[in-house]
Amino acid sequence: MNICVVGTGYVGLVSGVCFSELGNHVTCVDVDEQKIAKLTEGKSPIYEPGIEDLIQKNLHKNRLLFTTDLKQAMESAQIVIIAVGTPRKQNGEADLTYIEKVAESIGQHLKSYKVIITKSTVPVGTGKIVKEIIRRHAGEVEFDVASNPEFLREGSAIYDTLNMERAVIGVESEKAAELLIGLHKPLTSNIVLTNIETAEMIKYASNAFLATKISFINEIANVCELLGADVTKVAEGMGYDKRIGHAFLQAGIGYGGSCFPKDTSALVAIAEKAGYDFRIVKDVEQVNKEQRSKVIDKLKVALKNELYGKRIAVLGLAFKPNTDDMRDAPSVDVIPILQNEGAEVVAYDPVANENAQKVIPNLEIADTMQEAIINSDAIMILTDWKEFKEIDLTEVSKLVKQKIIIDGRNIFSNEHMEQMGFYYASIGRKTVSFN
Ligand code: UDX
Repeated sequence: MNICVVGTGYVGLVSGVCFSELGNHVTCVDVDEQKIAKLTEGKSPIYEPGIEDLIQKNLHKNRLLFTTDLKQAMESAQIVIIAVGTPRKQNGEADLTYIEKVAESIGQHLKSYKVIITKSTVPVGTGKIVKEIIRRHAGEVEFDVASNPEFLREGSAIYDTLNMERAVIGVESEKAAELLIGLHKPLTSNIVLTNIETAEMIKYASNAFLATKISFINEIANVCELLGADVTKVAEGMGYDKRIGHAFLQAGIGYGGSCFPKDTSALVAIAEKAGYDFRIVKDVEQVNKEQRSKVIDKLKVALKNELYGKRIAVLGLAFKPNTDDMRDAPSVDVIPILQNEGAEVVAYDPVANENAQKVIPNLEIADTMQEAIINSDAIMILTDWKEFKEIDLTEVSKLVKQKIIIDGRNIFSNEHMEQMGFYYASIGRKTVSFN
């Protein structure tokens, strides 16, 4: 199949690369000339395990192309995928400016039948808007619109796409359904065929549900702390029930990233517009917001309320491991609070250091984990990178000024920390104090 993907952000790039890997001819379009030049050289603008190898392989096989020329990219395409950003507006709604602009350009360049898919996460009803805009500019040319939301996770985006658990296809015609089922058949046998509005809702409902699971276990964690229970064991015990499952029950500092915060507030806004007060999701957001301050409270307890002049080593800046993405990362909220209280923060992340410096003012970055830890009064873990889980605690003991670890991700066991003689405060578990 010939496919044109508009937008080379996370979703667009990963989808385009994976569809080319399946043998399709894919042209990815973006207005950003520098990005396109980089991609044409085989370099990925995002940090995502495995993506560069696939870009280079498929460029070499001549079935993946990058261009700024939408008209040319659309010419031979049967399918056009819209994958541009839908940032959050101040009122929580998704901003559709980019989607609308792209729909207009697609309409202007449409010369033969194509299925135009919206892959960006868009409010229910956007498919109809996209259709109207294209119709206004395309004259009599026949086309179909469709919704095909993306469920990939950053850090395992290639795997998630090539091994997708389901494909959600929202269409209005048999012709579009056939084409899109054909495209997704090599990827999954779970194809959910429905109308456009339902497909759009499936994406929001899925992300809001996962966010709810996280805020739920975080609230359980907060109660565990008051009662002396251990949230990791509670989650383990709950997860064996197949109806609950183990996934997304890891208590911690709260969710971040480009999707959950944006999609939960968009869902609340969509519901409100339709006249419904979505209480659960509103509370999920509030719990998530408050969860971020837990590590600060714990640090204050450990340092007897005195952060001024204290050297704090922050390990982990990205919103989760295996990505350099800083969008809605807990570190963006936590670090400035520590700095305002007069703490000297030295941070380290295996890949997100450069991006973090763009969003956290006056951030001191260490070149290595050891350099961040030296002479620290406390270590604070904000991202559960594998590198941190494997840290040599004997070496840490020698480097730090005080053996205090505040862990927002529960990466160590209390028993081990007790053996190693650390003060260790984590989420939803007893604090290990100095003897
Ligand atoms: C998410 C969805 O998983 C994906 O399907 C959707 O397409 C986009 O949004 P992503 O944002 O890449 O993907 O990350 P994910 O791995 O889902 O984690 C989101 C956040 O939740 C992270 O901040 C993570 O640290 C946090 N999280 C996740 C928890 O705090 N506890 C958990 O148990 C799981």
